[in-house]
Amino acid sequence: ARVAVMHGVNFDVLERRSPEHYGGITLTDLEVRIKLFGRELGFETIFSQTNHEGEFCEQLHRVADNADALILNPGAWTHYSYAIRDALEVAGVPAVEVHLSAVDEREEWRRRSVIRDLCIATVQGKGVEGYREALEIIARALGFER
Ligand code: DQA
Repeated sequence: ARVAVMHGVNFDVLERRSPEHYGGITLTDLEVRIKLFGRELGFETIFSQTNHEGEFCEQLHRVADNADALILNPGAWTHYSYAIRDALEVAGVPAVEVHLSAVDEREEWRRRSVIRDLCIATVQGKGVEGYREALEIIARALGFER
């Protein structure tokens, strides 16, 4: 099965963002780690990142053409983008929301997610390992053995 892994705004400069919250890792390193987690579970992973909200929405419109499930980390858009919420509603594949940091334990404004109730699960505050957990959740949701 194929899993789309979509990163949103500011993930292209992940290694320059607060290491305390994001671990100082580059997006490329993060994607390599996720690819390996996916391989262990028998998934092909398909990656994308954009800083443009409309492009993120258009990727969501098309996601079912290439993937059976979706992991999305929209970054700050998570907290306020109804456009992304509406686009996720038409995506048509099961989605897991992932955040590297513990968004529920940071600033008040990060506690709100406008996509959470459309997702089968949310994983936060577990860093890179959180993506493994998200893939395991997807494996179960798609009825895989492990
Ligand atoms: C983030 C958390 C968001 O609040 C923040 O705006 C990000 C990254 C995370 O992965 O922890 O850009 O989604």
